[in-house]
Amino acid sequence: MSIFKLTINFEEADHESIVLPIAAGESVLDVCLDNGIDLQHNCGGVCGCSTCHVYVTKGMDNIEEISDKEEDFIDRAVRPRITSRLGCQCLVINGDIEVTIPDQSGFMGH
Ligand code: FES
Repeated sequence: MSIFKLTINFEEADHESIVLPIAAGESVLDVCLDNGIDLQHNCGGVCGCSTCHVYVTKGMDNIEEISDKEEDFIDRAVRPRITSRLGCQCLVINGDIEVTIPDQSGFMGH
């Protein structure tokens, strides 16, 4: 099985970037949860919410294409950008990727 590199950056200032292995067919959410990274996932990773929102800053061509349903949820995410994806739908196909996890502290209510 092919293993690629997932670089995760955080908008929150006190979080250091991290590089983790990701296998073909795995999602960004899967890798986050396996490694204790607190990416929200209210619907359980089935493209039914927008809480796993991330920005894909490198390797957009290396992940599964966005679906219409995913686009609809991204429209409802906080501060969506052109690089926005849902972490549970970012399945790696072939190659390294880099994402930024938005700062959710302002609206998740810790
Ligand atoms: S966890 Fe709900 S859409 Fe990704």
